[in-house]
Amino acid sequence: MNENLAEKIAGLKRERNALILAHNYQRPEVQDIADYTGDSLELSRKAASTDADVIVFCGVHFMAETAKILSPEKTVLLPDEDAGCPMADMITAEQLDREKGKYDGVQVVCYVNSSAAVKAGSDICCTSANAVQVVQAMEANRPILFIPDQYLGHYVMRKTHRELVLWPGYCPTHMKIGVEDIARQKSRYPDARVLVHPECRPDVIDAADEALSTGGIIRYARTYRGNTLIIGTETGILHRLRKENPEVEYLPVTNRGLCPNMKRITIEKVLWSLEEMEPQIAIPEDVRRRALTAVERMLAL
Ligand code: 13P
Ligand code: SF4
Repeated sequence: MNENLAEKIAGLKRERNALILAHNYQRPEVQDIADYTGDSLELSRKAASTDADVIVFCGVHFMAETAKILSPEKTVLLPDEDAGCPMADMITAEQLDREKGKYDGVQVVCYVNSSAAVKAGSDICCTSANAVQVVQAMEANRPILFIPDQYLGHYVMRKTHRELVLWPGYCPTHMKIGVEDIARQKSRYPDARVLVHPECRPDVIDAADEALSTGGIIRYARTYRGNTLIIGTETGILHRLRKENPEVEYLPVTNRGLCPNMKRITIEKVLWSLEEMEPQIAIPEDVRRRALTAVERMLAL
């Protein structure tokens, strides 16, 4: 069944000159039919550099939107239009405008997990892979508003020693990863190292050995010399880790780390989206242009 689907997808991909991008949290079978699997930053760079006419984005809405911001001439398909990111929905462009009004000369650093309209009102974007570097590049002596993830912002503040105004957004999936889960796994596997995503709560980050983007976790595993890694992020990443470096044993901090929106994408929906060329991402041109400035500033760093 899956092989048949994969063949149909491959045929349509050639016909449409399409590229399939998948985030590291996607279902195993979706990762397996993708041309490229990566973190938000890696996928943005791929979307910007491909000469495909169509991008099928297996991820959530803000990721597909970022691809469209960078490549307006391409058709960007999100196989399930309801695959959103609750954290991205925690700030609107109107709320951002009101918040900006409170601080003279404010610079806005916007996590890529945000809508195009919110990016359009921001100075620069960041992902979890480059947030520290982005904040370090901001002008001194001007306030910095970091949106929407308070925990990533908190992590960056500690790393950079820069004062940030934080917006109270958070990821409901990473929120479910607790210090007690780390303690339980560490008691079973005392020699294992613990890697978590910087969207986790500060106490969880403190209890881990490293806080890394999903791409950073993949790279860490490539050079790891121990037997076991305990992973504190969305559990979809375990498939790629096990596939690429099978000699290491990977365990989730907890099985609760599941993003229901990422899991909305199935290979059937990938096929249908290529057949129907729907659902397509559309962004008003004035919003896209302003959002592009913030995304390009990030990519230029
Ligand atoms: P990465 O940029 O690390 O892939 O993370 C994206 C994300 O949505 C994490 O929840
Ligand atoms: Fe958004 Fe969290 Fe899902 Fe990432 S894991 S897409 S931040 S809800």
